[in-house]
Amino acid sequence: MPPVASRAAILLVAAVVIASASARGQENAKPEPGEQILNRACLTCHNHRPVDTQALDEDGWAKVVKAEIAKGAELKSDDVPVLVDYLYRHHGPLPDSPGKEVVLNICTQCHDLARVRRTRLTAEGWAEILDAMLNEGAPLNQQDFATVLRYLARNFRPQ
Ligand code: HEC
Ligand code: HEC
Repeated sequence: MPPVASRAAILLVAAVVIASASARGQENAKPEPGEQILNRACLTCHNHRPVDTQALDEDGWAKVVKAEIAKGAELKSDDVPVLVDYLYRHHGPLPDSPGKEVVLNICTQCHDLARVRRTRLTAEGWAEILDAMLNEGAPLNQQDFATVLRYLARNFRPQ
């Protein structure tokens, strides 16, 4: 084999090895402890939806978790603060104004709110996002569109 071809072959093998190693790495990436607790203890009676549609502070989540334990959720007491912290960080409070309910009920139907929470845009930017969401199939009527646009433009605007 001429040297150039064999060097190419070595590079190819190396690329395949690296690619498969990183694919394995992703498979092994375990969810963080709080999420593991949620998956284990909270998704036996219902799916993720009741969690996705809440936006609570730490006290609020602590009360929910206590109530769910009373309903039958099986949680070790050590797991409670880990879960409450996880819920608070991923499903923390949202500003209270008209539009919040639409965000909680509609914007959670295809993805969680992480991408909404980390986005900061002008009204024009949010209108483009909402148009894109309509194209994806978001069930937003005209009135909800206007309400949620105002909510996002006011509460999630560039600093
Ligand atoms: C033994 C079954 C069961 C388990 C386990 C369970 N839930 Fe629930 N959960 C329910 C039921 C039933 C409802 C429906 C509302 C109701 O009847 O109060 C509910 C409702 C909810 C709601 C909606 C708000 C409310 O209070 O109605 C949230 C949020 C919630 N669960 C979170 C959780 C979390 C977090 C966990 C894990 C700690 C969990 N659930 C585990 C049965 C369960
Ligand atoms: C019918 C499903 C669906 C609903 C409902 C939905 N989205 Fe999305 N959303 C998507 C999909 C799919 C993507 C990924 C699109 C992409 O990356 O090109 C996305 C991506 C996003 C992004 C990231 C866009 C970017 O370019 O970074 C934001 C922000 C967003 N959605 C906000 C919302 C808001 C706000 C709502 C509620 C009004 C909503 N979504 C409701 C499907 C949906």
